[in-house]
Amino acid sequence: MRKFLLAVAATLVLGGNALADHFPSHPITIVVPFSAGGPSDAMCRILAERMKITLGEAILVENVTGAGGSIGVGRAVRSPPDGYTVSFGHLGTHVANGAIYKLGYDLVADLEPVALLPSNPMIIVSKNAVPAKSLKELLDWLKARPAPATAGTAGAGSGSHIAGLYFENVTGIKLQYVPYRGTGPALNDLVAGQIDMIVDQLSNSINQVRAGTIRGYAVTDAKRAESASDIPTTDEAGLPGFHMTLWSGLWLPKGTPQDIVAKLNAAAVDALNDPAVRKQLENLGLQMQPKDKL
Ligand code: MLT
Repeated sequence: MRKFLLAVAATLVLGGNALADHFPSHPITIVVPFSAGGPSDAMCRILAERMKITLGEAILVENVTGAGGSIGVGRAVRSPPDGYTVSFGHLGTHVANGAIYKLGYDLVADLEPVALLPSNPMIIVSKNAVPAKSLKELLDWLKARPAPATAGTAGAGSGSHIAGLYFENVTGIKLQYVPYRGTGPALNDLVAGQIDMIVDQLSNSINQVRAGTIRGYAVTDAKRAESASDIPTTDEAGLPGFHMTLWSGLWLPKGTPQDIVAKLNAAAVDALNDPAVRKQLENLGLQMQPKDKL
């Protein structure tokens, strides 16, 4: 509260511009609302490494997990509007959660958009013990089971949960959801054979699929992922039209001076235009946004 009042006082006395002139003067924190090691965390850490060069200040990534990401977003919403606490999120945390949870904050009124980040196609993956080599065989196996298969998610409203519901809707196959605080730990359990499947973000599962520690059946997009061109699309694999890509973004608490929003946007755009960063993100199967959208 004291920091908040100080920030407000400084804004009043010095004016937003003065604050922006000195921004940043100490490390910035990006709050990732899911576990370390998962897709959101990985994308954020790659961007933060490059954004700190533009901003000339360290960027810390803090994982504040739980309730489908809504707890971490709440932390950022309630932070001082001074640019030092940034909210990372996606379709799940910054849209769907508004319909699922009593958030205690308003996803539109309480947040200032900063940057649109790459999108993640989803991929249908299973543990290796599943006796299926194609999506058709997986669907047959799922339909033949006496009890629903277990599907890992990052909690209600998360991208993997929304994708699971969509999968159920399209296939008519019931799933038994196993919630984690992120798909990072869910993937660990899939590799260990503790759960049967995940409709996961490609960037999270791609390396395990490449390593052969899990099976990848299809990518939920109309076109194959360049970095995983051996994996068919859902159209090719027998689930035509089952398409979903998860867009991500950065936000600040509402009321943050526009100059500061612009500085953080510029740092994110620099990072997304950096060829080395683009290569890292595209290698994970992430789809870069058109430059005019950044
Ligand atoms: C994560 O980083 O764990 C994901 O973004 C979770 C999800 O939404 O599925």
